[in-house]
Amino acid sequence: MADPKVETPEKIGVQNYGVQKYTVQRFPAVEHNHPDYHRSAAWVQAVSHGFHQHRRDDDYVAKTLTAYQADKRELTGVYVNGPVPRHAMGPEVPVATYATMRKPLNIGFGRQLESNLVTSVTVRGTHRRNGILRGMITADLEGAKDDGLAMAALTASEGTIYGRFGFGVATFERSIKVDTGPRFRLKGYMAGTVEVADPAVLLEVAPTVFDQVQRVTPGSIGRQEYYRLLASGSIGHDGKPDTAVRCALHYSESGVPDGYVSYRFKGWDSKPYTMEIVDLVAGSNAAYLDLWRFLGSIDLVDQVTWAEAPVDDPLGWALEDPRCIDASEVRDMLWLRILDVEEALSARKYATPGRLVLEVSDPLGLAGGTWALESDGGTAALVEDASGLTPDLSLDIADLASIYLGAVSPVTLAAAGRVLERSSGAAFAAQRLFAVERPAHCLTHF
Ligand SMILES: CC(C)(COP(=O)(O)OP(=O)(O)OC[C@H]1O[C@@H](n2cnc3c(N)ncnc32)[C@H](O)[C@@H]1OP(=O)(O)O)[C@@H](O)C(=O)NCCC(=O)NCCS
Repeated sequence: MADPKVETPEKIGVQNYGVQKYTVQRFPAVEHNHPDYHRSAAWVQAVSHGFHQHRRDDDYVAKTLTAYQADKRELTGVYVNGPVPRHAMGPEVPVATYATMRKPLNIGFGRQLESNLVTSVTVRGTHRRNGILRGMITADLEGAKDDGLAMAALTASEGTIYGRFGFGVATFERSIKVDTGPRFRLKGYMAGTVEVADPAVLLEVAPTVFDQVQRVTPGSIGRQEYYRLLASGSIGHDGKPDTAVRCALHYSESGVPDGYVSYRFKGWDSKPYTMEIVDLVAGSNAAYLDLWRFLGSIDLVDQVTWAEAPVDDPLGWALEDPRCIDASEVRDMLWLRILDVEEALSARKYATPGRLVLEVSDPLGLAGGTWALESDGGTAALVEDASGLTPDLSLDIADLASIYLGAVSPVTLAAAGRVLERSSGAAFAAQRLFAVERPAHCLTHF
């Protein structure tokens, strides 16, 4: 294998019981004809194993790695040293996987913060609870900070894993079922036009439309290559082309595509007859409502479902009967981890003037300290080391991440005993300071 970046097990802190039990390799995802392809391919299979997915065929692995290369993903594999028991999975298959890529995060008022996105975290059941995850994640967060990044992000399979590493929930999403029968009526009128298109056009159109969302939506994260493949039906969740996928485009009044929905019919055996949204991306309020008008007008369908709907959804307010929406499963979506408090706070714009001294604790010792944040309510915010000053609020780094995009109220966190209000009214002052111009929502899973 050509030039892998090898870190010692000690570097990632894995317990070795006195022996060199594991080797860690960090390497870029590579495409089919690269000499290191087999290492990347074995890594993809290990991720599928970790998430209880099917064994992947060669075509799926090749497509996945092509997409990973486009995202410039860095893959980490942890390998057992020495022989493995006869018939067991070979030593070339990692016992743990971890990947990162860098994408912009919209942090409110159009500002973008380059962030370290963590994904594909698995540890094989027979090697779990040996500190492998702790080793991988602490080494990676330190490395990202050393590279000058102020933020890391992930989406979590379970709610109990990542708080200990300083990640806090920063956005939410929910699943909705929308009754598109006779009571589905939206107030107002179509502002643009919607037309059905061949889903293949989304290979080209989807990234351009998503860029519009990325510019205007706090909490939005730049999308990985996979999304345009998924939206266009080029790749389904099973890795094969999904020929059930259909699409419609929204055109602004000037005729420019500024929204799309891709969707699939669940089949005549599934009652009520249901259209599932695969991806709904709207670059303007008008595009969002017009696309829902279109979805509500599809014949032979009783309901439309969407698993990535915003919690604070204009649809409910635009419907004449808001009870057309049956919402369930509000869940955490984006988890953020601040790596550099001064950088992260300075990067934000604050809509109101104010001053707060924040005492931030960090269990990993990466970003703790006390800072004075002073905003003039305009473009400038001053963030200064305030060691020795009496804080207004004391909070964990994970809680600062939760309030950072305005989607979690510091008042609620104070009521929960997570944030300590040391000067009266400080939590409400923080709520006003961290507010963003529209509800944070992230349409990018990774
Ligand atoms: C979650 C997973 C990666 C943990 O890996 P691991 O190597 O066993 O974790 P570690 O041994 O480094 O544990 C680190 C800490 O997290 C805790 N922890 C790990 N997994 C946990 C879980 N599922 N729930 C609660 N706590 C967990 C450990 O108890 C340990 O706590 P401590 O250091 O405070 O004592 C592994 O169990 C796994 O692959 N699960 C299936 C795939 C998955 O859910 N991946 C996460 C995708 S977001």
